[in-house]
Amino acid sequence: MTTEHWWRSAVIYQIYPRSFADSNGDGIGDLRGIVEHLDYLNDGTSRSLGVDALWLSPFYPSPQADFGYDISDYQAVDPAYGTLADFEKLVEGAHQRGMRVIVDLVMNHTSDRHPWFLESRSSRSNPKRDWYVWADGRDGGPPNNWLSSFERCGPAWTRDETTGQFYLHSFTPQQPDLNLRNPQVRAAIREVWGFWLKQGVDGFRIDVAHRLFKDGQLRDNPEPLAAYRRYHRHPELRQYNLDQPESHELLRELRCFLDGHGPGLLLGEVPISDDSRLVEYFGADGMHTAFHIAFWEQPWDAAAFRGTVDRLSGLARPDALPTYALATHDIPRTVSRYGLRQARVAAMMMFTLRGLPCVYYGEELGMADSPPERALDVDDRDGQRVPMQWEPTGAGFTTGTPWLPFGHDIGTANVLVQDAAPGSSLNLYRRLIRYRRASTALRFGDYESLDSPAQTFVYRRRSPEEELLVALNFADRPIVLAIGEGPARLELSTDAARSAGTVSLRSVPLGALEGVLLRVG
Ligand code: NOJ
Ligand code: CA
Repeated sequence: MTTEHWWRSAVIYQIYPRSFADSNGDGIGDLRGIVEHLDYLNDGTSRSLGVDALWLSPFYPSPQADFGYDISDYQAVDPAYGTLADFEKLVEGAHQRGMRVIVDLVMNHTSDRHPWFLESRSSRSNPKRDWYVWADGRDGGPPNNWLSSFERCGPAWTRDETTGQFYLHSFTPQQPDLNLRNPQVRAAIREVWGFWLKQGVDGFRIDVAHRLFKDGQLRDNPEPLAAYRRYHRHPELRQYNLDQPESHELLRELRCFLDGHGPGLLLGEVPISDDSRLVEYFGADGMHTAFHIAFWEQPWDAAAFRGTVDRLSGLARPDALPTYALATHDIPRTVSRYGLRQARVAAMMMFTLRGLPCVYYGEELGMADSPPERALDVDDRDGQRVPMQWEPTGAGFTTGTPWLPFGHDIGTANVLVQDAAPGSSLNLYRRLIRYRRASTALRFGDYESLDSPAQTFVYRRRSPEEELLVALNFADRPIVLAIGEGPARLELSTDAARSAGTVSLRSVPLGALEGVLLRVG
């Protein structure tokens, strides 16, 4: 058996704490709610999902201007979500079930109500003034042309009345950017790392890892790039407010720190869909892995998926594994982007590629986006954050009124109904995860895509012990594929009605929007 680190073969499950399970009837998900549902995630039997690690989105004290990504205390739990003692129980319960726990590390910014910022904004001579990025305005406007990531927030600068200077915020004005060049800030942030590792966490998901540093001279973004709020590819020019080399230095320092505490995981959120830039962030002595952003940006097109997977595989450092997610709290859900049957094919793809699969809660049920009538989120992401649908009535999430209404699909996209239906999305997820767990080719093997007819994506996964083929039909009509010679065993299909059995690789029939996994030899 291989001696690889645990994370290299892990399936991660993302929990948005506010929306997973509410234990006290206030309509807001909380840590105890998560503890009560740990068996659903992994009870060691094939009845549970069988995931290896949980990534928890922020549950720290926060005014919730960006639903927890605006932190006002890095070393505590927001009372709405529970207490540190609850967190301890969560870690203990997860560990007992063989699951690791990864927490969100938001180093780019704090809340504007964080005591550090309250001090910093109080006067120009405050000792913490330099903890954030302050600058004088230019011609009556902001110091430069940088924009906030969020359309609705305008420029990345807000003028503070007290001192007449502007402060930088890459997101909402309630999220001032820290100055990570300041050694005291670095020391304070290091304390945060140590604090959570002492609480027993097994790693961090690094929020906007590509934004941690900005140009020290605060230079304007060059004109052709000035209008872009996010990373934008350009052959010669770079944006000055993101993807700066110093970020790597800090990430390496964090990696060293983490490695000193045991075998942990750093999962980078690097919203750069330019793979040639993304690959610099993970592998070697950087973060262990990073989300493959371009993966979830693809249209429903087999060649597009093959292209993006092959491109990243070709560019990434040899030991480096990307993380594949189909949805997160920031992007529309798979079913809403592609459709119900497409989502099943996409799931087979995610669990059989070379990399870490990351499942956003509710994806296993094929939940769709359900935007509420009145938007709560500053960037219109409420639709993908509706509470987990445990039962058709909404029971299981809360006994009260959920903070966001459930989806119209709750009658079918819920755990109770799908648990009992062998062909459900939930049971497909369970089968795929269970199969992956037992397969060295899927966990550690190499990856090679094969040429195949339009609207099909076929690839081989191989370890010294086994050879598997995955064939995905993206088209809404059946097809017969010639993949090679000899017999193979059909092990899994996204079509629950199809039974396992022997097929000839000369002619592998695929139904409309069907994916299959074949064992060669
Ligand atoms: C990325 C997070 O995933 C997103 O939800 C948040 O709004 C921004 N970073 C700012 O922290
Ligand atoms: Ca609650």
